[in-house]
Amino acid sequence: MTTRNPLKNDAQQSRRKFFTALGTGALAAASTGAVVLSAEFLTPNALFEPPSRVLVGKPDQYPPGSVAYLTEHQVVVVREGAGYFYALSAVCTHLGCIINWKSQEGVFRCPCHGSIFDKVGEVLGGPAPRPLRHLALSLTPNGYLQVDKSIEVEPSEILKV
Ligand code: FES
Repeated sequence: MTTRNPLKNDAQQSRRKFFTALGTGALAAASTGAVVLSAEFLTPNALFEPPSRVLVGKPDQYPPGSVAYLTEHQVVVVREGAGYFYALSAVCTHLGCIINWKSQEGVFRCPCHGSIFDKVGEVLGGPAPRPLRHLALSLTPNGYLQVDKSIEVEPSEILKV
């Protein structure tokens, strides 16, 4: 006849409880991780950026020969002569600083590293590797100028209003 050692039985019970608790904890952690990853997968990964198309006013707001820097859009609208318009990105093509229009000199100057651009955005000096970007400019049906900052156009594309 065999007799059971009550102390050994208690130790087995406590080890069983420990491993049961450990297993339950691991399962709970894995389930939580799966729920979090599923929720992340179902949530759209949208970028909330400002719109690329911006209205920049009516043509008669710009006097002939004017160069207007629109701070909130980082866009320059130039009106040549009677009704010829084009839009430039105000972002320097060197490292992305915002250019300034120097009306006395008739050039754009970059305050960061000294690049200089003429009125049509061509590089006159400094480290900028490319001219300023010309941006798509159009007239909406209700008579507003609209710049699309996501579309670069050839410098020869001038809007006649
Ligand atoms: S960022 Fe304009 S010259 Fe460097």
